[in-house]
Amino acid sequence: MTVKGNLAAAEEKVKLLKEYVEECSSVVFFGGAGVSTESGIPDFRSTDGLYHQEWNYPPETILSHTFFLNHTEEFYRFYRKKMLCLEAKPNAAHEKLAELEKRGKLTAVVTQNIDGLHQMAGSRCVYELHGSVHRNYCQRCGAFYDARYILESEGVPRCSCGGVVKPDMVLYEEGLDSQVLRGAVNAISRADMLIIGGTSLAVYPAAGLIDYFSGKHLVLINRDATPRDGQADLLIQGNIGEVFRGI
Ligand code: APR
Repeated sequence: MTVKGNLAAAEEKVKLLKEYVEECSSVVFFGGAGVSTESGIPDFRSTDGLYHQEWNYPPETILSHTFFLNHTEEFYRFYRKKMLCLEAKPNAAHEKLAELEKRGKLTAVVTQNIDGLHQMAGSRCVYELHGSVHRNYCQRCGAFYDARYILESEGVPRCSCGGVVKPDMVLYEEGLDSQVLRGAVNAISRADMLIIGGTSLAVYPAAGLIDYFSGKHLVLINRDATPRDGQADLLIQGNIGEVFRGI
């Protein structure tokens, strides 16, 4: 197909996405790190992603419960450098989703991201399956600390009581929050349209939640192929911020 032909096909798909959204009234969005790359936050598995950069240990090892316990200082060196992007701003994808919620079209965002950009864009119902960098708690007394405190601290961040402060982020080997899980499953199972975007659908149990969808339209917007492409009624391979600018 020519470039012109490709463009026409892409425009046709975005037009169809817009029609689907207009038809539906309980849309749910399920997203991952690819939603935030256009805000300057690297994803994990794209070629330029976090998991393809040089570190003393594989990032999936660093972002684990065992590593946090045994190499806390090394964990925080990686975490401050790679996971705390506090200057990042919401992009067109975050903004469109917040607008669709305000219009009463979208009932929930279910995200694997921990950057808080959906809430910053104005989304109110956001299920953060993997937690958030904006919530950090002392492991001894439970005191709350914000992300800025962690970014500006040196070495292992300590509470005034002396306890170690830990981000409210689901590390490998840790379970997901049951209340968040319940809310996400509830929203997806009631949805008449599920838009999946910016995720490789490689990590469970998060990726398995999309199996609770039984509504009318399943849309998948992703740069790279995913294992679920064959299930989508509408598959758009491209930049999600650009696609959402078009609807
Ligand atoms: N538009 C659309 N898709 C994009 C964009 C973009 N601008 N940028 C990247 N992508 C796609 C990539 O093609 C990739 O398939 O987003 C996907 C991101 O996949 P991952 O990097 O695997 O991120 P994610 O799916 O969120 O990972 C899930 O893995 O390590 C854990 O806890 C971490 O929550 C994360 C989980």
